[in-house]
Amino acid sequence: VIDVRKLYANTGMFTYDPGFTSTASCESGLTYIDGDAGVLLHRGYPIGQLAEQSSFMEVCYLLLNGELPSAKELADFTTTITRHTMVHEQLTAFFRGFRRDAHPMAIMVGVVGALSAFYHDSTDINDPEQRRIASHRLIAKMPTIAAMAYKYSVGQPFVYPRNDLSYTANFLNMTFSVPAEDYKIDPVVVDAMDKIFTLHADHEQNASTSTVRLAGSSGANPFACIAAGIACLWGPAHGGANEAALNMLREIGTVDRIPEYIARAKNKDDPFRLMGFGHRVYKNYDPRATVMQKTAKDVLEKLGVNDPIFDVAKELEQIALNDPYFIEKKLYPNVDFYSGVILSAIGFPTEMFTVLFALARTVGWVAQWNEMISDPAQKIGRPRQLYTGPTQRDYVAVDKR
Ligand code: ACO
Repeated sequence: VIDVRKLYANTGMFTYDPGFTSTASCESGLTYIDGDAGVLLHRGYPIGQLAEQSSFMEVCYLLLNGELPSAKELADFTTTITRHTMVHEQLTAFFRGFRRDAHPMAIMVGVVGALSAFYHDSTDINDPEQRRIASHRLIAKMPTIAAMAYKYSVGQPFVYPRNDLSYTANFLNMTFSVPAEDYKIDPVVVDAMDKIFTLHADHEQNASTSTVRLAGSSGANPFACIAAGIACLWGPAHGGANEAALNMLREIGTVDRIPEYIARAKNKDDPFRLMGFGHRVYKNYDPRATVMQKTAKDVLEKLGVNDPIFDVAKELEQIALNDPYFIEKKLYPNVDFYSGVILSAIGFPTEMFTVLFALARTVGWVAQWNEMISDPAQKIGRPRQLYTGPTQRDYVAVDKR
């Protein structure tokens, strides 16, 4: 008879690490995070510099290729992405199979997964050229699919991509234009949206990226892997947090109600948490939240939006930053705390927030997937477990139980 609990004594080094808080699953040259210092670098460049001085297209190139592009490389890359923004016309029929009130993330999981059935010429993962084309297709088509998901949910006709617009302006145009009236593209809004995309582009081995790598480690095609990443991102503890943060700010409503919610967050018997606060890795101010706060101010000013929840957010942050509970637990605003305020001011409904996160994170997912496939040490991901069930025993016939 095998004593299952003794099994682990013979397996050499065996670690039990729930949530993988201290286990590296891979090597990666893409993104560095120092959570204690509040530092985030992509290929060595600080996120603040990239968000303020670069563009999302440039960051995509950097993540995929390892270096910042020359002016010509950037122009060529932008042209390539622009040329891939159209989706197969048959996909429009696919959308129509969903209920109107389907959550756009449900549509995203289905439609992005279905891309594998449309683009057979870029699913051979052993061919670097096919991997490159699949990566470009995914980055280019995500805005189109995201905008279509939105249009479908509000019952408006799909708007086709425009090659004369930038990546981000084209997305806004596809989302907000209606046949009777073109969306008025405001450079401040485009800049804010581009920053939001940059701030979400990659974040090392978070749950959805690990999901993409795990799915990809079996040799699954890139479209299926990204669909798996989207499904994981949907959860409220991950990509769904900015929706939850905005809902919380709206629920608080006015500055005078903040102490009530701070008290609830500190009460061990109350499951309530301050959404948009705290992070598994950052035990300091999330550097992305710094850019988000400034961007929120710029967008609200430019659009003339006087949303009281921005005042609630700023005041809540100040109170929490000076409260011993939050100081002791090192809970600071994360990227999601202010992003909902900006997206709401631009006109996105909350159900679209996670979709926008997925759109931006696609480049990180495909860059990580490519890095994994190119790594000679790559193996199929196969975590072990610490078995806690019964030890070996003999089957008992049903009439003897
Ligand atoms: N409000 C109040 N207390 C909190 C919060 C919060 N937002 N976050 C953590 N805590 C407390 C916990 O109650 C716990 O207290 P305890 O030690 O007395 O038990 C302690 O801080 C540590 O919390 P954990 O959940 O163990 O920390 P972990 O690193 O696993 O969780 C997480 C990180 C999930 C992000 C958490 O801080 C949280 O739930 N935040 C709110 C949701 C959110 O904003 N998510 C977005 C993450 S960023 C992203 O996905 C892009």
